[in-house]
Amino acid sequence: MGRAEAAAMIPGLALLWAAGLGDAVPSLPRLRLSFQELQAWHGLRTFRLERTCCYEALLVDEERGRLFVGAENHVASLGLDNISKRAKKLAWPAPVEWREECNWAGKDIGTECMNFVKLLHVYNHTHLLACGTGAFHPTCAFVEVGHRLEEPILRLDPRRLEDGKGKSPYDPSHRAASVLVGEELYSGVAADLMGRDFTIFRSLGQRPSLRTEPHDSRWLNEPKFVKVFWIPESENPDDDKIYFFFRESAVEASPATGRLTVSRVGQICRNDLGGQRSLVNKWATFLKARLVCSVPGVEGDTHFDQLQDVFLLSSRDRRTPLLYAVFSTSSGIFQGSAVCVYNMNDVRRAFLGPFAHKEGPTHQWVSYQGRVPYPRPGMCPSKTFGTFSSTKDFPDDVIQFARNHPLMYNSVLPMGGRPLFLQVGAGYTFTQIAADRVAAADGHYDVLFIGTDVGTVLKVISVPKGSWPSSEGLLLEELQVFEDSTPVTSMQISSKRHQLYVASRSAVAQISLHRCAALGRACAECCLARDPYCAWDGSSCTRFQPTAKRRFRRQDIRNGDPSTLCSGDSSRPTLLERKVFGVEGGSAFLECEPRSLQAHVEWTFQRAGEVAHTQVLAAESAELTTRGLLLRSLRRQDSGVYLCAAVEQGFSQPLRRLALHVLSAAQAERLARAEEAAPPAPPGPKLWYRDFLQLVEPGGGGGANSLRMCRPQPGPRPAASESRRKGRNRRMHLSEPRADRGPRSAAHW
Ligand SMILES: *[C@@H]1O[C@H](CO)[C@@H](O)[C@H](O)[C@H]1NC(C)=O
Ligand SMILES: *[C@@H]1O[C@H](CO)[C@@H](O)[C@H](O)[C@H]1NC(C)=O
Repeated sequence: MGRAEAAAMIPGLALLWAAGLGDAVPSLPRLRLSFQELQAWHGLRTFRLERTCCYEALLVDEERGRLFVGAENHVASLGLDNISKRAKKLAWPAPVEWREECNWAGKDIGTECMNFVKLLHVYNHTHLLACGTGAFHPTCAFVEVGHRLEEPILRLDPRRLEDGKGKSPYDPSHRAASVLVGEELYSGVAADLMGRDFTIFRSLGQRPSLRTEPHDSRWLNEPKFVKVFWIPESENPDDDKIYFFFRESAVEASPATGRLTVSRVGQICRNDLGGQRSLVNKWATFLKARLVCSVPGVEGDTHFDQLQDVFLLSSRDRRTPLLYAVFSTSSGIFQGSAVCVYNMNDVRRAFLGPFAHKEGPTHQWVSYQGRVPYPRPGMCPSKTFGTFSSTKDFPDDVIQFARNHPLMYNSVLPMGGRPLFLQVGAGYTFTQIAADRVAAADGHYDVLFIGTDVGTVLKVISVPKGSWPSSEGLLLEELQVFEDSTPVTSMQISSKRHQLYVASRSAVAQISLHRCAALGRACAECCLARDPYCAWDGSSCTRFQPTAKRRFRRQDIRNGDPSTLCSGDSSRPTLLERKVFGVEGGSAFLECEPRSLQAHVEWTFQRAGEVAHTQVLAAESAELTTRGLLLRSLRRQDSGVYLCAAVEQGFSQPLRRLALHVLSAAQAERLARAEEAAPPAPPGPKLWYRDFLQLVEPGGGGGANSLRMCRPQPGPRPAASESRRKGRNRRMHLSEPRADRGPRSAAHW
């Protein structure tokens, strides 16, 4: 508990840096797939409208089988199975008068005075609620989408628009966070043109609108709202609460610290009606607590304090979902992001703990020690916990206390006390998160899809580590889902269809949650990949079917240990021996790159005519690079067979067998002359040296004399890794001509 207390109030010391992260290196994904690879082999589909930007609102509608998209001046309805198919669009621009007003107010007519559709909710069986910025004139509309019809409908009656103030932001650069519960919309938004009056607002429906106390920095202090969820507290709907996730300037920061951003979770009761004499039409049940995501360190905790997104992963009990949140740092010292997981019971515990209290302007924030009035502020009026039936019946001292104590003293700490997954110094930050719970052979696993600010999606699984609830995140894949590297603005999952939908400024993308075939062609590779969606079925890596026979679904997510699962597996692809040539005194590059970026490569050498194998160790004449083995100053006795194996998790898998022939300079020269003199090669079998010399690039390499040769054609490989190698120079440098090398540098051609 010590840490919860300590974390509550912000000490004056710098929080941002701690020993331990200073030398952290970014995690590598096991598999990295480019936009082109995903498009060519893994069914990546994209959607974009002509001359339209800013795809931000995504709404998955499983029943209608549609994906609704909000963008600049448009709402679109796409097929969930294939977003490139049967797309319908609805133009919804802002009226000319509003655009002119917007322009007079000093906004840019071309980039700001448009209707950016920020919010989409399913309203009833036939309509969606859509809200947009309306050229700094927020506006909402009910969009008719029909029942479950064969031919999808997408219609809007422009004469029936609703005021969007307090629902959609004015400013296109702001995000909208809201949830629709019944007919009521709960939103966190700036409710004025200047973008200063931030509020948590309830609108639509039959009851009077309710909001937060305006211009009171204790309630909200320049917040940026991220997500809003409706979560029941008990069997009694009167106890239902709405939780708001946001970041804001910390009121509790000491003046010495200066401006500091903190992340928050706020709560209100669904049945709040405001106070009777005080807090009229304001929330009487609003409370907020700090959401901490930090790495404990000897010299202080390293805080990831900029909440970016939250995903609510439902469990069987609707009261206790898991909250997966992504954070970035506000540090100028290093760039980092983290995923922290929160338990709803920890959130509730913070709201039941001590209130933060500040006696006067010159006082510190402390834990309130006095008497807390009854009913305790933050509790909903219900039969479960008391006798009050409405917040309007709450005694005055309760309302006064609630007004002055919106902040809790204790923070909410993540499960396990630290981030599940973090990435430091990787050149990008996390912006969005979605999660899926998957049934695997050895239990359930949460798979996270994390959107970044460079147009990529990371796939991370959460695996248990040590004692419960400690888990760690393993980075399985890095997917470049957009052609350009624009930030991911929104992400939605369809667990039913196994699809992920990703939005950015430039497009919407759709990708399957799994690419089993890309993981490898051997049981060991499939097993090492630890992808809960995939298993080895005896002959290939395919989608895991929990119902299939056990021997047809070999999978080990917890340990990723292929030694027992894949023993006796005879389907390992056989390695073809390939010939490679080098010239005495020159160098040779033996290419071998494992599919998995998490594997390292080991080389063994068997000298020509000998039986013994030796491991190739790094030396002046042998450099082990990530792409292969570089041999320098070749000698005749370097001829022999080089075997390259990928080692991952202690498991070794042979990848390549290369037979190196080291030629004397004279031999090489003779062969080259023979080639120049030779007539064009007839089709059919050729002499080995003809094969070799065909590939010689005469006088190549910018005029320098160089001997180059193509790598022999690789054997059958899965498409993914084949293309990863595309675009790279497929030639192998046998000899590196270097001026400083003297006469021995290369054979002359
Ligand atoms: C999706 O639809 C487009 C357009 O009809 C088609 O070209 C593409 O092959 C489809 N993709 C899949 C995976 O069904
Ligand atoms: C859904 O809401 C819209 C807008 O209020 C209304 O016009 C429509 O009749 C409603 N549909 C149903 C099925 O209730």
